[in-house]
Amino acid sequence: MKSIFISFEGIDGCGKTTQINLLAKHFAKQKKSFVKTEEPGGTEGANEIRKILLRENNFQWSVESETLLFMAARNDHVEKVIKPAIEDNKIVICDRFMDSTIVYQGMRSPQAKKLSLILFELIGIYPDITFLIDMDPEIALDRALNRVTDEDRFENYGINFQRQLRQSFLDIAKTHSDRIKIIDGNRSPQQVAAQINESIETLVK
Ligand SMILES: Nc1ncnc2c1ncn2[C@@H]1O[C@H](COP(=O)(O)OP(=O)(O)OP(=O)(O)O)[C@@H](O)[C@H]1O
Ligand SMILES: [Mg+2]
Repeated sequence: MKSIFISFEGIDGCGKTTQINLLAKHFAKQKKSFVKTEEPGGTEGANEIRKILLRENNFQWSVESETLLFMAARNDHVEKVIKPAIEDNKIVICDRFMDSTIVYQGMRSPQAKKLSLILFELIGIYPDITFLIDMDPEIALDRALNRVTDEDRFENYGINFQRQLRQSFLDIAKTHSDRIKIIDGNRSPQQVAAQINESIETLVK
């Protein structure tokens, strides 16, 4: 079997983790070997950086410096987890990847976007397929508020910010239409999963 590198992107609460868990179950049923991982994080070193980056009231760095930290974490993750898994012919499922940096940091600074793209050319690997779970931020907000978590990102950033994020993800998807598949997230988890499974089967063929 040939390896496939799959990433999931989309605004907070759109259903990435839900779909990743369903996909992992699907692969397990098919007895395919896969690695499930996430960003920021995925390695011990990257998790150390994640802790710093997701710390509340983290105004210590400029968005450019923050981006360099994200890229350092990504380098560690690519080196230690993603590349070895691909070389091992495993399927890699990654919860957020490079597109999130372009959206979240790139939206705040064109310089940060440029920095991340230059570094990514040197250290990164593009996924074979990226699922952008697209949905109305209001619905994602309702879902997120119903979820038990100690993070309150929606309340920190607000609905308008989520709308901008959504648009920014859609813009990237237009530029990379060969790689990024837009999935309508306003459906049941099973309906969304069925479309994702179908896309992967088409890709493998
Ligand atoms: N298709 C769906 N229909 C209804 N509810 C859903 C659907 N998908 C996920 N949910 C619920 O919405 C909430 C957010 O989903 P999930 O945690 O998978 O999103 P996420 O994209 O991983 O969010 P985050 O970016 O915050 O990690 C969860 O409570 C989940 O059970
Ligand atoms: Mg999640």
